[in-house]
Amino acid sequence: MVTTLPAFVTQPEIITKVIDYDRGKALIHQVRTAVFVHEQNVPADLEIDHLDGISQHVLATYEGHPVGTGRLTPQGRIGRVAVARPLRRQGVGQQIMEQLLVLAQRHHHREVVLSAQRHAIAFYEKLGFKCEGEAYLEVGIWHVTMRKQIFFG
Ligand SMILES: CC(C)(COP(=O)(O)OP(=O)(O)OC[C@H]1O[C@@H](n2cnc3c(N)ncnc32)[C@H](O)[C@@H]1OP(=O)(O)O)[C@@H](O)C(=O)NCCC(=O)NCCS
Repeated sequence: MVTTLPAFVTQPEIITKVIDYDRGKALIHQVRTAVFVHEQNVPADLEIDHLDGISQHVLATYEGHPVGTGRLTPQGRIGRVAVARPLRRQGVGQQIMEQLLVLAQRHHHREVVLSAQRHAIAFYEKLGFKCEGEAYLEVGIWHVTMRKQIFFG
């Protein structure tokens, strides 16, 4: 279930790990359904797509319960980043993103791209992403494309 990447620990009870999609999808979609479908009214059939089965996924747990997730597609796109509402602004999203960026580096991506909801732009900017182009509507939510270069030491 867990790859060779080390677990990232934000605080004693919260752990983020890379998780195999087939084994972890119930936990991943538990978080995504709560955040995107119930909170943001994204249609449930759009929350899951064909990229899930071929992407790398990160899952954050709190005392064993799923509380955050995100994915990296084979094309180097980060997406479906979500943290359960009660645990926001405690560094969980940042830890998920840092682990996704490590994965991107290990897969030799020279850059990563994402589609940021406008409210989350500052969150991604703190991680080194830069906006490009005009904002656009996707599933009724304003988004902007953001990109980050990956540097190899
Ligand atoms: C966006 C989201 C993933 C951020 O997760 P989080 O766990 O709350 O973020 P963190 O606590 O790790 O924040 C990391 C940094 O970004 C900042 N930040 C987080 N959310 C922010 C926001 N909405 N506006 C401004 N800054 C924000 C934090 O203050 C923190 O900065 P600091 O280190 O200087 O204190 C979370 O708000 C979420 O799940 N939102 C709903 C789903 C969503 O919109 N996902 C993004 C789709 S593009």
